[in-house]
Amino acid sequence: MAAWRSANVLVALLVVAAAWIHPGVFTVEGNNAASSPFPAIILLGDSTIDVGTNNDLITVIKSDFPPYGRDLTMQLPKGRFCNGLLVTDYLAQDLGFPYQIPYLQRAGQEQKLLTGVNFASSGSGWVNLTADTYNVISFAKQVDQFKDYKKELISMVGQTQADNIISNALYVISTGTNDYVLSYYVNPLVQKKYSIPAYQQLIRDTATVYLQDLYNEGARNFALASLPPLGCLPAVISIYGNKGLGPEGCVAPLNEVARAGNDVFRHVFMPKLERQLVGSKLVYLDVYTVLFELAANPRAFGYKEARKSCCGTGLVEVAILCNPASFGTCDDSNEYVFFDSFHPTTRTYKLVYDEFVWPVVKAAFNF
Ligand SMILES: *[C@@H]1O[C@H](CO)[C@@H](O)[C@H](O)[C@H]1NC(C)=O
Repeated sequence: MAAWRSANVLVALLVVAAAWIHPGVFTVEGNNAASSPFPAIILLGDSTIDVGTNNDLITVIKSDFPPYGRDLTMQLPKGRFCNGLLVTDYLAQDLGFPYQIPYLQRAGQEQKLLTGVNFASSGSGWVNLTADTYNVISFAKQVDQFKDYKKELISMVGQTQADNIISNALYVISTGTNDYVLSYYVNPLVQKKYSIPAYQQLIRDTATVYLQDLYNEGARNFALASLPPLGCLPAVISIYGNKGLGPEGCVAPLNEVARAGNDVFRHVFMPKLERQLVGSKLVYLDVYTVLFELAANPRAFGYKEARKSCCGTGLVEVAILCNPASFGTCDDSNEYVFFDSFHPTTRTYKLVYDEFVWPVVKAAFNF
């Protein structure tokens, strides 16, 4: 119950801090060379992928203001939960694409839809309730928007070309963390209804429906990110530290939950679904292992700090709590594994990308 109260305090703080935030103005830039085994990259999920979907929603889960984005060297749409680029931005760069634009901000730049689009909405998870609690776009609605996107493609380039884009695109999906940290662990009703194993089964059943749905629309190539070590997120350490810290200083029971979820997802759920969805490929992106190593051993990787994040005190600041007035924000994000209390710095994302995403995607799709 103490945890529930702490979470309530956090939400109350978030709501109070909402009062003075002003929406940002942005312009888009990108390169135009396409030399990729995929005609497009299509992104779905949460704040690990979102580049501004939430900017125009009425929600506290936003990041279109400093210090977010402060280390971006080019002018990009605001709304990344990071000081710089995300894993999927690095992927777009290496494949020669412009950065995928948020679907909701496509007006006037429809041409960019031909090389992919970004449906991700921060604060969402696999389960509807997670997104609905924060008035953000659920995975179910992202899939609905994807169906609209497909219709738009057809009207732009015709059925054959559109089908070619849809079926040969790479679908990168990163979601699920919020089903735990923004829903299960802060909502006693969810905890009452589901044990952790039952909740993990619900998540897999839910994921099956949406992946089948995308497949039915023509999607074939999927890369699915694992859960991170939930217990190493600075906010989780601040709020749940009393549940028991492991030798590496992370909340052990929450890491155990993430590890158990990842294991079944990777070794049972994904192979089974891949057989069911004939002609599909489901690739597992292990972000757990590397983030755990960084969190446990930051100095070995040239970081100074992994327990606290860069923004503010580093203990709880995230979204509208991480803002220009946050006291104590660090000068050099590269010294930190985490930028805010839930999200890695771009240095960390680059490391995850270089070691555990790019080589894995290359090997899986033979290019
Ligand atoms: C989730 O929400 C969508 C509407 O966006 C609805 O169609 C679907 O039935 C819901 N799923 C569950 C399991 O309630």
